[in-house]
Amino acid sequence: MLERAFNFSAGPAAIPTDVLRKAQQELLNWNNQGCSVMEFGHRTPEFQELIDKAELELRQLLKIPEHYKVLFMHGSASHQFVMVPMNFLGADDTANYLEQAHWSKKAIKEAQRFGNIHIQKAFEQTKNGLSIVPESQWQLDEAAKYLHFTSNETIVGVQFQQEPEQFRGRQVCDMCSDILSRSIDIEKYALIYAGAQKNIGPSGMTLVIVREDLFEKMQTERVPALFQYPLMAKHGSLYNTPPSFGIYLASLVFDWLKQQGGVEAMEKLNQQKASILYDYIDASDFYHSPVAKDSRSIMNVAFTLAKPELDQSFLQQAKMRGLIALKGHRDFGGMRASLYNAMPIDGVKTLVQFMDDFVREKG
Ligand SMILES: Cc1ncc(COP(=O)(O)O)c(C=O)c1O
Repeated sequence: MLERAFNFSAGPAAIPTDVLRKAQQELLNWNNQGCSVMEFGHRTPEFQELIDKAELELRQLLKIPEHYKVLFMHGSASHQFVMVPMNFLGADDTANYLEQAHWSKKAIKEAQRFGNIHIQKAFEQTKNGLSIVPESQWQLDEAAKYLHFTSNETIVGVQFQQEPEQFRGRQVCDMCSDILSRSIDIEKYALIYAGAQKNIGPSGMTLVIVREDLFEKMQTERVPALFQYPLMAKHGSLYNTPPSFGIYLASLVFDWLKQQGGVEAMEKLNQQKASILYDYIDASDFYHSPVAKDSRSIMNVAFTLAKPELDQSFLQQAKMRGLIALKGHRDFGGMRASLYNAMPIDGVKTLVQFMDDFVREKG
């Protein structure tokens, strides 16, 4: 039976052990209330204090300016694929969408129900591997309401190394798999969304950061109340019963992040973790990264084995060494090591040691 493993899952993903311990300690009696936070009213001063603190810490961690609202929304990032065009687009309006891999295509499909979607292909196979098409080659519709993109395509591990420059203040970003992993310039965005289950907490909650002045222009007459950003913001994410356990756990993760030195310290560590693994893969004849160096993700490292018939054995032996969830996405195959904030550097070193032992024995 495994104790606590190094968990490389792409999501739901590892949560810092210290955070889980704290939640465990408080499970029966949160904040001296004699019950858990899950059993506690959301319209109480104590819960208000919790949600206010979570928001404040997030604002500090990401340096979110005052004129942006932070929403703790129900549901998943896929709900945001719908909510974004629903709120931003009138029937005759256009939005730019970058077409990358899996997730951006899903976002496009939903957006097409609500308006005209100008698609710019931004993902290509080059001689050096999978890559993001350089921004200088994009042709966007200048009159569009916003530019939607996915900062890190989780499935294949392709990530923007720099935030796009165009559409400053009007970018909408699916930041599910790299939020809080590196510093960002919030002022570039109209809206950022991120499902919680990678760098924030448990699934079932999605974080939204949105420019408040855009509320006036939103097309909300026909949008169901629960899906209206302005309404959710007006009620401080408490229009109805919120995902209270998710908010609680997120607040513990934000505390933990601050103790680690914040997003800047995390970014350095994440760079270091990813370099250890990519450097090893690049030096090996047996392992291969399908992604071009200029587009590699520091969060999701995809790699293949020279002998795919050994994939199963690789996964089984890894598990015996306490390294779990390394199987690549079903559409892509191979392996994928997700190195979100909660993955300690020791986990990456142990993985590299295992990969090396495996190749010596079987390669
Ligand atoms: C980049 C990205 N966007 C969107 C999603 C969809 O998230 P959900 O399953 O919570 O809807 C995922 C899920 O892993 C993702 O990685």
